[in-house]
Amino acid sequence: MKRKITVGFLMLSFFAFSQQNTIDQKVNALLKKMTIEEKIGQLNQYTGDNQATGPITINPNKEAEIKQGLIGSMLNVLGTKYTRQYQELAMQSRLKIPLLFAQDVIHGYKTSFPIPLAEAASWDLAAMELSARVAATQAAASGIHWTFAPMVDIGRDPRWGRVMEGAGEDTYLGSRIAAARVKGIQGKLGDVNSVLACVKHFAAYGAAIGGRDYNSVDMSERMLWETYLPPFKSALDAGAATFMNSFNDLNGIPATGNKYLQRDILKGKWNFQGFVVSDWGSIGEMVAHGYVKDNKEAALSAITAGSDMDMESNAYRYNLAQLVKENKVSITLIDDAVRRILRKKFELGLFEDPYKYCNTEREQRELNNPEHRKIAREVAAKSIVLLKNENDLLPIAKSTKKIAFIGPMVKEHKANMGFWAVDLPEVDYNKEIVSQWEGLKNKVGKNAELLYAKGCEIDDNNKEGFAEAVATAMKADVVILSIGERWDMSGEAKSRSNIHLPGVQEELVKAIQATGKPVVVLINAGRPLVFNWTADSVPAILYTWWLGSEAGNAIADVLFGDYNPSAKLPMTFPRDEGQIPIYYNHFNTGRPAPNDTATHYVSAYIDLKNSPKFPFGFGLSYTQFEYSNLKLSQTKMKKNETIELAFQLKNTGKVAGEEVVQLYLRDKVGSVVRPVIELKDFQKIKLNPGETKTIRFSINKEKLSFYGKDLNWIAEPGDFDLMIGSSSTDIRLKTIFELIE
Ligand code: NOJ
Repeated sequence: MKRKITVGFLMLSFFAFSQQNTIDQKVNALLKKMTIEEKIGQLNQYTGDNQATGPITINPNKEAEIKQGLIGSMLNVLGTKYTRQYQELAMQSRLKIPLLFAQDVIHGYKTSFPIPLAEAASWDLAAMELSARVAATQAAASGIHWTFAPMVDIGRDPRWGRVMEGAGEDTYLGSRIAAARVKGIQGKLGDVNSVLACVKHFAAYGAAIGGRDYNSVDMSERMLWETYLPPFKSALDAGAATFMNSFNDLNGIPATGNKYLQRDILKGKWNFQGFVVSDWGSIGEMVAHGYVKDNKEAALSAITAGSDMDMESNAYRYNLAQLVKENKVSITLIDDAVRRILRKKFELGLFEDPYKYCNTEREQRELNNPEHRKIAREVAAKSIVLLKNENDLLPIAKSTKKIAFIGPMVKEHKANMGFWAVDLPEVDYNKEIVSQWEGLKNKVGKNAELLYAKGCEIDDNNKEGFAEAVATAMKADVVILSIGERWDMSGEAKSRSNIHLPGVQEELVKAIQATGKPVVVLINAGRPLVFNWTADSVPAILYTWWLGSEAGNAIADVLFGDYNPSAKLPMTFPRDEGQIPIYYNHFNTGRPAPNDTATHYVSAYIDLKNSPKFPFGFGLSYTQFEYSNLKLSQTKMKKNETIELAFQLKNTGKVAGEEVVQLYLRDKVGSVVRPVIELKDFQKIKLNPGETKTIRFSINKEKLSFYGKDLNWIAEPGDFDLMIGSSSTDIRLKTIFELIE
């Protein structure tokens, strides 16, 4: 049996190898025929006329340039009708090199999925892979070859609007999610449903100073390698075809012109064979950074540093040929970039059939596939975090007769998609997106009376609607209040210095809570918000983020207990902006505060606690779980050994539920100081009421390693705390083991 598998594996590897070999031969043959202008054309990407995702420059010659082979790729062209039209122009060019169509398919295409940060809260890798697969299938059916996803930037600063696009603050969780998303997006390269992934933004964009978008990043080499780079590496190991560099400078060198990042690490040490695209205009923006004097120097810097494709800067298009003539850029460098791009076009099968992704019938079928909506509903339910549930107010009993549904989000449709949703011109989003009102109506049918009042807008100061809202609440048995951020308050260029609930919404919560009715608050947002009064006062809170097409149905599923919430926060929720950046895996310092009130010569604020409002990894369920009986195969391990651990997890409540069991470690003494706690593994376990399962994990050297002072991954002998938790602060089982020489 084993032998058969080995032979099969060898044959497959040989097949993959020889296929790559033939592709390389084809690429080389084509390259020989190309003029320098045609080569540079392949490195040039323009936006189309659909929704702009950056500061657009209209190019009236686009069509003529495609026919001349001067454009290799386009973004923001939506729908097979248009991709076909542009592809037909490319087929009139001398060498008939197909265009590559790219799009930001960040959380769904026509069927909108929860924003990536929300999905991350599910800690459900299979669900995230599936959601990415569905999004890619729809995008591919609509003519898209390449998506600018996944975004794998670590986000420790909720003021930064782009945390909504990532997987949160943790490197381990983020790395696992990065791999799942790449696999989901790409499926099997070459299949008609496969879309190239683009891992972004390389690198360290998430650490923008002050959480202000596009801002500089200054960080130690150790922090870069240990915290910010691993999700990129994980995405690469999962087969990611392309990378995008980023807007920020890193320690004074713009990422786009950063040779260390792109050439030395990515293409060098990591041996990345795909291509790197710049971010929108980021080559040209090196002038504003003050790193180069003009677009020509910018082109020289970017191509030398390893940026293969120029998105919307026009820097390569107008300068590279001259730079080659002046011997400042070698033709080998250009050839390498072109090769990388052509290879992907061959791998997708576009040379065999440039219209492979242009089948209108398939487009209609996939964009209206009911199975996709079903998946979107499941993933949305899995993303909702139960933050509070006093006296088991939730789930709402199905026998409840009068429910007041109040707040500015209740009857919204499109707003449930949040930022980075694909906006298809022909789609009526009032029909496409199930509003929260509709979801509730679908759920209760004629069994309950639903009452509505808006109360207020998301972010103005008008309280005129309060009286009606209060009167409506007074008539009901239970009140559900849906508030949060407007869809465009988190996202690119949406940094906020104040992340409290906007407008007068928290005052509305106070007014409704004062009625004495049981109140459930839903918070819709793209980032962790600050809502202390609400958190301390109302009995039940669900963090619903922005959930996409099936938002209303998924929320109703959770409210009524048809889905038992299982999500856990992928980011720490601060008490106040003054705590930011705040993250669970911090260092201890030499004067750690022993508790939240100590301030006397300890590392603390005199006007704010150190602890977060809600910790990383936190989320409740309608049931409870008991952890017991932790056993280790050994308490001392050598570097080449593995510790096997096991414990019992029991569902002690009355309903079935899922628990995310989290394995944390603390390296007690290190040659560089180590975090007080670090996530090293997790599993999501489903248990029926009363059911017990044995949960097993393995600990190997890799889990004990960190990026040491000699700038290498090392595991140092010594004691480790091992903690099994239901969150990063709710540790249920704890022991110690030792790594020995
Ligand atoms: C700029 C964003 O930073 C990037 O993530 C996106 O993919 C491009 N614009 C293209 O829309």
